[in-house]
Amino acid sequence: MLKDKRILLILTGGIAAYKGLDLIRRLRERGAAVTPVLTRAAEQFVTPLSVSALAGEKVYRDLFDLTDEAEMGHIQLSRSADLILIAPATADIMAKMAQGRADDLASTLLLATDTPVMVAPAMNVRMWDHAATQRNLAQIKGDGVTVVGPNDGDMACGEFGPGRMAGPLEIVAAVEAHFGPRPLTGKRVLVTSGPTHEPIDPVRYIANRSSGAQGTALACALLDLGAAVTFVTGPADVAPPVGADVVRVETAHQMKDAVLAGLPADAAVFAAAVADWHVAGASAHKLKKSKDGLPALAFAENPDILAHVAQMTDGRPGLVVGFAAETDDVVANATAKRARKGCDWIVANDVSPETGIMGGSENAITLISDAGAEGWPRMSKAAVAARLAQRIADALA
Ligand code: C5P
Repeated sequence: MLKDKRILLILTGGIAAYKGLDLIRRLRERGAAVTPVLTRAAEQFVTPLSVSALAGEKVYRDLFDLTDEAEMGHIQLSRSADLILIAPATADIMAKMAQGRADDLASTLLLATDTPVMVAPAMNVRMWDHAATQRNLAQIKGDGVTVVGPNDGDMACGEFGPGRMAGPLEIVAAVEAHFGPRPLTGKRVLVTSGPTHEPIDPVRYIANRSSGAQGTALACALLDLGAAVTFVTGPADVAPPVGADVVRVETAHQMKDAVLAGLPADAAVFAAAVADWHVAGASAHKLKKSKDGLPALAFAENPDILAHVAQMTDGRPGLVVGFAAETDDVVANATAKRARKGCDWIVANDVSPETGIMGGSENAITLISDAGAEGWPRMSKAAVAARLAQRIADALA
């Protein structure tokens, strides 16, 4: 039930806007009040009259409508709801959100709000798959936006694939889940993410190609399920998730200290690509070229943070999850790694360059636990994260 909940529903301009009309009915059937906002493009697909008739409320359409500014300014409008829902959400509104643009009523409301935001994307499959849209998607998720769908299916444009808006009942279920008790409420989860940087001297360092995308997506998914997340991150490409307690580190040693300071936790997930070695006796001064030859770097082993936490006798998290990035014999190597490190699960993936997984937007993983090896189909890193977060919730239940 959505009794006493006010949803600010933004309809943007796509053919799926007609499903927005049904969505209004479904939300109201469950007791929600719906304040509708239409973009100019949405008015090409549904009329303000039908939207306001179904919502039983005035439709907001224009940023510069002075009467509305007197009655209710856009700032107040943006904050008077319990949830802002964008359905359908076009590639254009997602791009505006990712950039923080505010050039019409809908985008201005989204920039001015402190209310949770949920989007149900709908667009042509090529537009959805486009690197720019996927970048914007990752950005808005990182900003704390919840995304429902899109689904695979036949599209109005005659193509087939992901891009079809989630059905109104699916969206209603996501809205109800948003307001309902969430399975990880009251649980603390620690997540490590990103690469580490190991200094050679004050300006040079040794690093790896980890972007932090999978760890960040997982932290977002855990937050969506209600967990309190401590996010220990090396210098990643992706911005850390909004709503997490973010601890930024550079080296493996700093990461270990931050992890130990972040315990106790109900679960700990080690998605970081921690350097195995650091430069022993890193120089406090910038190394200079010299006629006497090349500098010799000596390496020393870094602490294995995952193994350390997995083997703690006192205060070990109830569930310890490691990642294994492999290029050969993925399952055999990851199974051996699970035993060696003493963790409960290993999320294994093949990072051979031809898979495009390292630094890419998709992942194909095998979950290794005491139940054996379970291969998951290739899917977006966000979908892997959502599924993994749900499995963590099931394990902690
Ligand atoms: O041994 P390997 O680096 O392949 O193991 C990967 C897993 O171990 C990941 O979960 C990673 O976060 C964790 N790890 C760690 N500390 C290290 C090395 C790896 O926590 N020094």
